[in-house]
Amino acid sequence: MSTLQQPWAGPQVDAALAADIAVRRPRGFDHRLAGHPLMSIDAIAELGQELGPDSISAEDAVKPLVTAEPAFRELAAEAIADRIRSLAAADSWFTLLNIEQERAYRELVDELVEGVAERAGLDPAGLRRRMGFVFASSPGSVTPAHFDIEHSLLMQLRGRRRLSFGRFGSPEVREREINRYWTGSSFGRLESMPEPVSELELGPGSGAYIPPYTPHWLSNGEEASYSLTVTFFERSNEDESRVQVLNERLRRLGITPKPYGAAPARDRSKAALMRWYAGMRRREETSRSH
Ligand SMILES: [Fe+2]
Repeated sequence: MSTLQQPWAGPQVDAALAADIAVRRPRGFDHRLAGHPLMSIDAIAELGQELGPDSISAEDAVKPLVTAEPAFRELAAEAIADRIRSLAAADSWFTLLNIEQERAYRELVDELVEGVAERAGLDPAGLRRRMGFVFASSPGSVTPAHFDIEHSLLMQLRGRRRLSFGRFGSPEVREREINRYWTGSSFGRLESMPEPVSELELGPGSGAYIPPYTPHWLSNGEEASYSLTVTFFERSNEDESRVQVLNERLRRLGITPKPYGAAPARDRSKAALMRWYAGMRRREETSRSH
């Protein structure tokens, strides 16, 4: 059964989104998910309790826009629901990771991705590794400058936030920041502030498409903020991620590979090699487990 009310409550998008996805250009959109029963504060608090501490990252709310190493805090399981409900009075910043682990939320994530694909004229089968995240943060919270490797659809549910997009200062800076992502625990957090490019003011009912490998950061207004982000991979960011992984392995062998994007034909061969390798690994794992 559909968890989205009729008419369509997900991102109000059309073929223009497909064009933006193709060139990794951010865009804003409207949605009507704020009233969805799975997205009430109580439902989100219960979801946090259900997922447990391993699927929640917590940090202080107020922090600098550039903070390269995440400072996660351990959270007691019993405190999660209360902390999510009382964000307005606390200094907290939570991410509920991989909400698709819970069946109702997996269905919601699938419906959102498939509905968006249909409206944008994209093949839904091409939008893979679908995941969902709920971000809940206190007034004045900051999400430091970072990039994600997935395509993201952010839907603001409560509170207001400013979402800023930037660009890497140079191809060398991009390469260095991406290396840090694949070698360590930066989670995409940037060492230096990107050049600001554009901004979107988000409130309940608005949202944004955030392209992969695109620097962005967020600042809350004076209320607590709750939002849902649904992410997916398609061919372009899957291939870039595969090439970046291979380049990282080559560097460890003392080889200096051409950065992704500098030699597109070579990138295609590398991505094909990694796809073949991933296929072989899957077959081996399947035969091992049976
Ligand atoms: Fe992000």
